[in-house]
Amino acid sequence: MIIAVDGPTASGKGTIARALAEHFGLPHLDTGLLYRAVGRQVQKSGGNPDDLGDALAATAFPESVLDDPELRSEDVGGYASRVSVHPAVRQMLYERQRQFAMQPDGAVLDGRDIGSVIAPEAEVKLFVTASVEARAARRFAEMQARGQPHTLEDITEHLRRRDERDSARAEAPLRAAPDAVVLDTSTLTAQEAIARAIALVKERTASSAN
Ligand code: DC
Repeated sequence: MIIAVDGPTASGKGTIARALAEHFGLPHLDTGLLYRAVGRQVQKSGGNPDDLGDALAATAFPESVLDDPELRSEDVGGYASRVSVHPAVRQMLYERQRQFAMQPDGAVLDGRDIGSVIAPEAEVKLFVTASVEARAARRFAEMQARGQPHTLEDITEHLRRRDERDSARAEAPLRAAPDAVVLDTSTLTAQEAIARAIALVKERTASSAN
């Protein structure tokens, strides 16, 4: 079974995808990390993420970049969003994601275009979303816990800009696939959102078995 979990940053999609993978015994790939690795590689080499040549060269990042603690920072998130606009960069990362999705027992992948581009045949497609305010508050708490000083206003502004860029790009924009189930986590705790997601997967797979 392939489960596609798409949605904007800090919507809870990563937490939900990890929990679904554990519950259904499937491997999980956070595809944002691949874009973050490209972004981080551009940043480290002093390149410009808007420049196609720089972004494309960074798709040959060494595997060790995937363990870089900086990968989850807001700055690298911004770089990732900017390199992800280039269709050639998306193409370079396609095969790796596709192969992960095509494992014999299936997989859970989370990102922006899993249900629409990477695995359009996924049995279950969730589009996890939440209000900008709810997402900014979560990201703020995360950053504080990691000792990364940012104001709530800064984070809100970053999220808005990132949403805009991810939604407005020509290739694979952030959008719910027509056959995706939308799960709004604005007023849910992580445990409630996970329980809802597990129920949705069971519902979907039960109805497709009939
Ligand atoms: O999910 P995230 O915040 O780690 O993703 C970082 C950026 O990577 C996001 O702003 C857009 C890009 N991305 C993408 O374009 N397609 C994906 N499948 C995953 C991430």
